[in-house]
Amino acid sequence: MPTLRHTLALFAALYLTGSANAQYNYSKDISRIFQAKCQQCHREGDIAPFALDSYSAATTWADDIKAAVKEKRMPPWKPVDGFNSFRDAWGLSDEERTMIVNWIDGGMVEGDSADLPEPLPNTGEWLLGDPDKIVRMPVNFAVPSKKDTYRCFVIPSELTEDKWVSAVQYLPGNKQVVHHVIAYLDKTGVSEQYDGKDGQPGYECFGGPGDGVSLDASSMLGGWAPGVRPRFLPDGIAMKLPKGSRIVLQVHYFTNGKKDQTDQTKLGIYYSKNAENKQLVFIPIVNTSFKLKPGDENAEVTAQFPIPPFYDATAYLVAPHMHLLGRQIKVEKIGSDKKVEPLVYINDWNFNWQGFYSFETPMRLPALSQMKVTCTFDNSDKNPRQPNNPPVRVGWGEGTEDEMCIGFVGVVFDRQGLPFVSKRSK
Ligand code: HEC
Repeated sequence: MPTLRHTLALFAALYLTGSANAQYNYSKDISRIFQAKCQQCHREGDIAPFALDSYSAATTWADDIKAAVKEKRMPPWKPVDGFNSFRDAWGLSDEERTMIVNWIDGGMVEGDSADLPEPLPNTGEWLLGDPDKIVRMPVNFAVPSKKDTYRCFVIPSELTEDKWVSAVQYLPGNKQVVHHVIAYLDKTGVSEQYDGKDGQPGYECFGGPGDGVSLDASSMLGGWAPGVRPRFLPDGIAMKLPKGSRIVLQVHYFTNGKKDQTDQTKLGIYYSKNAENKQLVFIPIVNTSFKLKPGDENAEVTAQFPIPPFYDATAYLVAPHMHLLGRQIKVEKIGSDKKVEPLVYINDWNFNWQGFYSFETPMRLPALSQMKVTCTFDNSDKNPRQPNNPPVRVGWGEGTEDEMCIGFVGVVFDRQGLPFVSKRSK
């Protein structure tokens, strides 16, 4: 018996590490995968700790690359394949993952440098051209050197009339420390009460923009995470930036001990060319009343949002949100015929890698269909990200030790003037 198994294993090993990978080399194959799936972060001055843009870099980091790719830690693309398709997706296919691992195991053949791809162009700052308006954090913020800082900065929009926005580009001032950015709209000014209270610019904020800063459907302006590319919304669709509103920029800094870092993140805002648009709103499908029992390894929390009668809609993007205890999150459409279609599924949630995922094909949400979010939490001490020792009862809140379960869905309703989208804009 062992001989047969042995022979098979040997055959498989030979096949995988010998003949099959002889066809791959760095110049022709592997460099192209790194360019498409790694270099948006692994390049000089960007968020990743080393540039992955040469044969020597690839071989220097080979052991780490093999481990990170095999364990699916890198690239940190979270949506699971087969549950909806996304624009600008940069996840590795199983085939690419195998190619990288086999190439490393097979001795890292360099190949002919004439086969190397053109290096990626060094694009200017603003990828969509000059913005109509640039707003920035009020100060160059001295980032504390502790590993993680979550800070909200209040930026007056200084607008005297409402504006339609068709794209926003977030430009981190210091990509080595800015991990992600979310922009909320504060239409009432509550955020100003928090600003500067601790003697530093802005205020601490972890899971949201702070108590009382509205989280209604028209109070988000999207966000940025590494690898996200700005895009114009389809013609005739725009986000609304109300006059007098403040942009609350929530920035997650990940310094990992780096000292003397500063950041002044900017937003480039592109106004719509149309006088009238249909408004893109972010519907939060949210459960705020759950309690997670200490020790529960597999607690499921759900919420649903029914599309109201006569308000057929189209969904364009989804941004799932939980904190540290979250393990899985799924957002789905349930048709009035009960047919289920996935908007996104993440089975390995990591608070550090949150995204705004744009659908390859917009999804129709007819009236009376439902959007549903399902969050799975591990509130046991087996969860390596468990913030409480020992675990305690955890419910909704904005702090590190609290939890959230939200699927933000970027939606446009066919019919405008929505009863459930707040009109407050003073
Ligand atoms: C969206 C940004 C991003 C992309 C895309 C990305 N990385 Fe990373 N990578 C990082 C960051 C940031 C770190 C630093 C550690 C961390 O934050 O997890 C890192 C760390 C690493 C490390 C060292 C630490 C570890 O986890 O072993 C390796 C190896 C690595 N990346 C390989 C890759 C490869 C190979 C690809 C493409 C197939 C890739 N990365 C794509 C951002 C990225």
